[in-house]
Amino acid sequence: MTWLERIYPALKPWLFRLDAETAHSLTVKMMVISHKLGLLRPLGTGQPVQCMGLTFPNRLGLAAGMDKSASAADAWAALGLGHVEVGTLTPRPQPGNAKPRLFRLPEHNALINRMGFNNPGIISAVKRLEKRRSKAVVGVNIGKNFDTPNENAVNDYLYCLKAAYGTADYITVNISSPNTKGLRDLQAEDAVRHLLTTMKKEQAELKKEHGKMVPVLVKIAPDLNDLQIESLARVINEINLDGVIATNTTIAREAVAGHRLANETGGLSGAPVRERSTLVLQAFRMLLKPTIPLIGVGGIVEGSHAAEKIQHGAELVQIYSGLVFRGPALIRESLSALSTK
Ligand SMILES: Cc1cc2nc3c(=O)[nH]c(=O)nc-3n(C[C@H](O)[C@H](O)[C@H](O)COP(=O)(O)O)c2cc1C
Repeated sequence: MTWLERIYPALKPWLFRLDAETAHSLTVKMMVISHKLGLLRPLGTGQPVQCMGLTFPNRLGLAAGMDKSASAADAWAALGLGHVEVGTLTPRPQPGNAKPRLFRLPEHNALINRMGFNNPGIISAVKRLEKRRSKAVVGVNIGKNFDTPNENAVNDYLYCLKAAYGTADYITVNISSPNTKGLRDLQAEDAVRHLLTTMKKEQAELKKEHGKMVPVLVKIAPDLNDLQIESLARVINEINLDGVIATNTTIAREAVAGHRLANETGGLSGAPVRERSTLVLQAFRMLLKPTIPLIGVGGIVEGSHAAEKIQHGAELVQIYSGLVFRGPALIRESLSALSTK
């Protein structure tokens, strides 16, 4: 057991007394300092996996939103995560929604957030990533600025794709955050076809320019109905997209009904989204060509949940909310559960 695993259970009650966003910033700052002092140790290993033409040191990664500014990728990697997805990043920096905008529902191992893509802008994040040292795969998750109308959204995504291409190992087109007005409308068949076709065309140009192929993925919502899942899968197959991340947070609240925070606006994550996320993952696995890989995310709060995503068709998995409630133990458990997959 590492010192971090030893102190987390004692630290957690103190962190939980702070407002959730303050606790989050403090934790990440402590991690970065600990990493600079050489104090972080891997919480497990795992088998390398080939996926999308990249070598992932193992199947476990950090989901987008934990490191929005790309300032702690090396620290997360030092804990043994095989990939770190930074962002969401937008063309221009933006402050996000008013605080408070992140809430804990500990009774449900869940969070509700309406952060609204608070981020320092893609250029500043890319500069930071250029200095990274770890061998972990780094994904850059991109979005549109809150004040860019959907008709022009494609320009924001193109801008971010071009800015990140030289540095990122893969790029995720995020069209599934519930906290940017109208963003999820980009998942509709015609809109998504236009957006992703444009991304793939630009990727071909950038591949020639940079001499490397950077996979482009799309991240989807768990709240899609069957018809929406079918149309989205059809477009992804047609375009031959490089991968799909299932899923983002949910706007559904059935699982936490009656909780005093249940009616906070935003996306619900953690244990209550697990079942739905896995169903959506499974549906996409059935509908997508076998050559298009899936990354499973949503509700992993135990190692066995990480293994479950692989059983239902994911090549790789990501964690976020579970880390808040379980701390480093979740990384150790997940790596161990995945090592036999
Ligand atoms: C506070 C918070 C911020 C998030 N921000 C982003 C984001 O900027 N971009 C994104 O694609 N997903 C974001 N997510 C969604 C996560 O990446 C993940 O898809 C979702 O939380 C489900 O996984 P989980 O149940 O393990 O947390 C965020 C989640 C949380 C809790």
